[in-house]
Amino acid sequence: MTAEYKVHGDVAVITMNNPPVNGLGYDTRIGLTGGLEKAIADASVKAIVIAGAGRAFSGGADINEFGTPRALAEPNLHSVILVVENSPKPVVAAIHSIVMGGGLELALGCHYRIAAPGAKVALPEVKLGLLPGAGGTQRLPRVLGVETALNMIVSGEAVNSELLAQQPGQKLFDRMAASTESVLEEAIAFARTVADKRPLPLVRELPCKHPVGDAYFQFARNMVKGMARNLPAPAKCVDAVEASTQKKFDDGMATERELFINLMFTPESRALRHIFMAERATSKIPDVPADTPQREIKSVAVIGAGTMGGGISMNFLNAGIPVKILEMKQDALDRGVATMRKNYESQVKRGKLKAEKYEARMGLLSTTLDYNDLKNADLVIEAVFEEMGVKQKVFEKLDEVMKPGAILASNTSTLDVNKIASFTKRPQDVIGMHFFSPANVMKLLEVIRGAKTGKDVLATVMSLAKKIKKTAVVSGVCDGFIGNRMVEQYSRQAGFLVDEGATPQQVDKAIERFGFAMGPFRMGDLAGNDIGWAIRKRRAIEHPNMLYSRTADKLCELGRFGQKTGAGWYDYQAGKRDAIPSPLVEKMIEDHRKELGIAPRKISDEEIVQRLVFSLVNEGARILEDGIASRAGDIDMVYLTGYGFPLHRGGPMLYADQFGLFNVVQAMKRFQRNPRDDVKFWEPAPLLARLAAEGKTFNPTT
Ligand code: NAI
Repeated sequence: MTAEYKVHGDVAVITMNNPPVNGLGYDTRIGLTGGLEKAIADASVKAIVIAGAGRAFSGGADINEFGTPRALAEPNLHSVILVVENSPKPVVAAIHSIVMGGGLELALGCHYRIAAPGAKVALPEVKLGLLPGAGGTQRLPRVLGVETALNMIVSGEAVNSELLAQQPGQKLFDRMAASTESVLEEAIAFARTVADKRPLPLVRELPCKHPVGDAYFQFARNMVKGMARNLPAPAKCVDAVEASTQKKFDDGMATERELFINLMFTPESRALRHIFMAERATSKIPDVPADTPQREIKSVAVIGAGTMGGGISMNFLNAGIPVKILEMKQDALDRGVATMRKNYESQVKRGKLKAEKYEARMGLLSTTLDYNDLKNADLVIEAVFEEMGVKQKVFEKLDEVMKPGAILASNTSTLDVNKIASFTKRPQDVIGMHFFSPANVMKLLEVIRGAKTGKDVLATVMSLAKKIKKTAVVSGVCDGFIGNRMVEQYSRQAGFLVDEGATPQQVDKAIERFGFAMGPFRMGDLAGNDIGWAIRKRRAIEHPNMLYSRTADKLCELGRFGQKTGAGWYDYQAGKRDAIPSPLVEKMIEDHRKELGIAPRKISDEEIVQRLVFSLVNEGARILEDGIASRAGDIDMVYLTGYGFPLHRGGPMLYADQFGLFNVVQAMKRFQRNPRDDVKFWEPAPLLARLAAEGKTFNPTT
């Protein structure tokens, strides 16, 4: 039952009941129109109340219907609202807790609205690259004034009901209820008082004007242009609200409809909808049901107080979970704690954190040099040097001291988690928790599932990730896991592009224009080119046949490790981060080309972007096929939250889908003709080749 019908004397109450937030799916819509028809036909009913069961009035569209024919099946929301508006008996919306999107549009179609305090009111469609499509852009300005309504529509942010009720002249709420608990009863009583009042008030009949419309909308357009680079929806929201001030109601509705449908088909909206769904899907693990028992995590231990150990600890302190850090020497501990303090203090200085909170968080931190002090921790995360020998010693010690049932996690970025687990007698308790630097800031957490990792351990870590506000993505065990395995191919391609004739700055600019926060060469200079150098040296032993550009090694041989040494792919001035093209590096690149016998050619920005992005896509396809990632959306989330892939493109796999997998394969075939590519690099991964041939996509269409 997704909408219940009950008569209280002379008032009929239709209660939407579609947990968790009474999404306006097909069944709920049918329930609403069915209830309205019954109430209208019943002569003993004088007025109608629409309410929401449980945690919300209504959160809007039902996300389970996204992209399915049911989302648009009649009665669609627009049709439901017409039935409400045309009811000969007054319809009162009894609002509590959440009234968002279509839920708010439904309430705006009612003749009266009564709201509980603390209800979150929003039209969040812009966050999915859309605008409210069932009258929100035309009705909200009529009840809240153009400026308040436009701010809400363009930002998508929720505003508290009592704040809106205080706004002079507002017509959104006819009355505020005393509380969430009493709103339904008060709505029924209110409905009786207006049962015989005619004519019935309709929001569509209210005037809608702005005193200096042209100037205001010009200002609004400039604002959104600055805010929403690469996203078309906010500007269209301005157009739609402007129409509410210039056109008759029904004409304004037609404009809204047209703008909505156009946005629906933009790649940007598809990307944002994909991200919305993918983000929710990452926590679903095919063979680990949602009701898998979990272990309780009340305290955490961290081994190593270096760059990662400190940042990792801050996540738990921020969530109110006590942390104990262990180091080999007191001065390493002192340094680690001082860095954490410095980080918190800069947040306090910038007004991002209250001083009392800072103290409370640090109060949850303790330090030790003795493993015995860790034995009662529920979870221990190792973040020591990236060397198997060191990890072995640490895990053997942990196996000895930790209480039974404790989870033993490693933050390793490349090492084999199965091997690490084999150093203990409890491999079922061992898992990888791969944080990204800076660990207290970056959203991504790759959760590495070892061959023997227990399902309860996996489920526990996934839900803990939510508590510390990370986007957790499960990865199987392989070299580099999901993210770094892909970035390696991307870096190889960046090197080949330079060998063939591009400059580092051309490569960086091209991919930054595509939307990446930073190109590969600026990124290398920031992270330290020596890190990649060390990895390549290891790979040269493990994969002697892998072809890669030697330019990056030559750079490191010159000691140009990046910003930290004042020089890398670019030159840097002391204390500044501006990347200045380096004549010395250019000469080095030219000399290397001569050694290789390559005559440089002009490479277009388009080719640069395609080669970099498709190198990610091809490796992503292999990762999917190998079962390292469970779905393409997981790979996209890794790239969006950990590697600066532009949000409006929806991640590498969705980008490939939208580009067309056939076209991706065709481009790869062209790239096979380049001199620096061994044919293997651009051989389409079998999964990619198959999907392209069948006209399919990596992601289900959203
Ligand atoms: P780091 O060198 O900054 O810190 C390592 C810390 O561990 C040092 O303070 C050292 O004194 C301590 N340590 C070493 N052996 C120890 C032992 N046996 N017992 C106790 N403490 C010990 O290194 P970083 O960058 O924090 O890396 C740590 C781990 O995190 C590595 O496995 C690395 O691959 C991984 N990682 C690093 C990322 C980065 O961007 N730096 C990103 C993701 C993972």
